[in-house]
Amino acid sequence: MIVVLMGYMGSGKSTIGRELATLLGYNFLDLDDFISDKENATISDIFKEKGEIYFRKKETEYLLEVINGFDNIVLALGGGTPCYGNNLSVLSDNSNVVSFYLKLSIPVLSKRLFVERQRRPLISHLNSEEELLEFIGKHLFERVQYYNKAEHTITADNKSKQDVLEDILMHLI
Ligand code: S3P
Repeated sequence: MIVVLMGYMGSGKSTIGRELATLLGYNFLDLDDFISDKENATISDIFKEKGEIYFRKKETEYLLEVINGFDNIVLALGGGTPCYGNNLSVLSDNSNVVSFYLKLSIPVLSKRLFVERQRRPLISHLNSEEELLEFIGKHLFERVQYYNKAEHTITADNKSKQDVLEDILMHLI
C-alpha cells in the first residue's frame, strides 16, 4: 500500500507522514525532498533558477517514479502536486494508493506559514500576515476541488498530532 498525504502548504503532511510511517512500519518519502535530491537543488532554487513550469514538469515525473517504483510507503506530496497535470488521476487510478487530505482552516494555515514562509517560493514575497491570509484564501479556493478528491478527509484544526494520526489509522485498519 502507498499512503498519500495531500493538503495545503503547512498542513503537516511531512510531520504527520513521518510519524505515520513509523507506526505502520513503512518508509517515509517526501516528494519535495525526492525532487530536491534528484535535481540537486532546493525547491526555492529550482523555482528561482528554472521557474515553476520546470518544477511542475519534474514534480509529475518524480511522482510517477515514486508511485511505480516504491511500495509500503507513506508519501507526502507538495501542496500543489494534486492540482497539476494528470497527477490526481495517477493517484486515483492506482488501487494500491490510499489518499488523505489534511484539512486545516485558513487562519491556522496562515499563522503557521507566516513564520516559515521564506523557504516556500510561492509565499516568500508576502510581508504581512494579512496579505498571507488573503493569498491563502484565494489559493485554497482554487485548490480545494483537487484536495477534495482524496479518498479521505482528515479535519486537523484543533487536533493534536496524536488525534490526527489516530484518525488516519482508523481508515487504514
Ligand atoms: C508548493 C508546495 C511546496 C513545494 C513547492 C510548491 C505548492 O510543498 O512543493 O514550494 O504549490 O503549494 P509543501 O506543501 O510541502 O510546502
